[in-house]
Amino acid sequence: MTFAVTLNEVIMQKQSAFPYAKGELSRLLSDIGVAAKIVHREVNKAGLVDILGAAGVENVQGEEVKKLDIFANEQFISALKTSGMCCGIASEENEEIITYNDNLSLNAKYVVCLDPLDGSSNIDVNVSIGTIFSIYRRITEPGNFAEEKDFLQPGTKQVAAGYVIYGSSTMLVYTTGLGTTGFTLDPSIGEFCLSHPNMVTPKEGKIYSINEGNYLKFHDGIKKYIKYCQEKDSATNRPYTSRYIGSLVADFHRNLIKGGIYIYPMTDSAPNGKLRLLYECNPIAFLAEQAGGKATDGRGNRILELSPKSLHQRVPFVSGSSKMVDKVEEFISTYK
Ligand code: AHG
Ligand code: MN
Ligand code: MN
Repeated sequence: MTFAVTLNEVIMQKQSAFPYAKGELSRLLSDIGVAAKIVHREVNKAGLVDILGAAGVENVQGEEVKKLDIFANEQFISALKTSGMCCGIASEENEEIITYNDNLSLNAKYVVCLDPLDGSSNIDVNVSIGTIFSIYRRITEPGNFAEEKDFLQPGTKQVAAGYVIYGSSTMLVYTTGLGTTGFTLDPSIGEFCLSHPNMVTPKEGKIYSINEGNYLKFHDGIKKYIKYCQEKDSATNRPYTSRYIGSLVADFHRNLIKGGIYIYPMTDSAPNGKLRLLYECNPIAFLAEQAGGKATDGRGNRILELSPKSLHQRVPFVSGSSKMVDKVEEFISTYK
């Protein structure tokens, strides 16, 4: 009989690659795993909201039912406070940074950027959603409150990043810069079990993921790339197939495994696209690169090297199989 290897065991193994590590990052990652399990439990009850009570009203226990993205946000904020290893959070759901003021957290070394519930338009229709996180070492001295500059670091400074996908099964995928590793939740034992030890994305794929409803707004480079994907050419395995869920985590996860490209480009009305640099693009870019893929802003820049100017900054995003990202860049620079 073989025993499953759990998330905590792998976190500890990876920590041993750094002989001076005190286990603080490990503790933080493991607490993120616990919060993910709690959110998983609630996500699985999403269809029962009408029975248990809709958002903003009381459920049968007389408790107020929260929207799932607010619930997920609160869950992660309190899990990270309990860990005592994080001094502050930048979350999609909060305009300003959240700082912790207890002694343990004030002395913590790390800050976390968070998209607590990604793909929230898919919650009510039982389609995959996710959580995205990114961890940095603080710049300010421990013992003080976290400040905005702790969060405004380029993605190359991430010490860890990952996502949880609440799909046909719940998975947690993370990196500390030693490859991309995936775990699947076994609900019967309540553990994330190692299922994808070393995720390597194909250099080329057959899937393109973009919201084609915005086609008329796209610039020529993107329009022509979409037509390129649709043309027949047996030498390059075209036509490609189009897949778009509308949850970045789910679209990226599929393409990571099968090979493909995800694009959320700029348009005239949204010159920086839609996705957020700190808690969507940087963590996904780190995971993509650690799996052998690429992530750029469609203007020839590596996402991880951008210098963030504000917490909720948006950026155009091209990510996935490396040769496909190169091709998109080529189209954009050829047909401006
Ligand atoms: P969130 O639910 O955290 O606001 O993120 C939604 C994002 C992303 O997950 C997804 O890929 C994208 O928005 C979809 O946008 P469109 O509906 O404009 O295609
Ligand atoms: Mn999101
Ligand atoms: Mn969100």
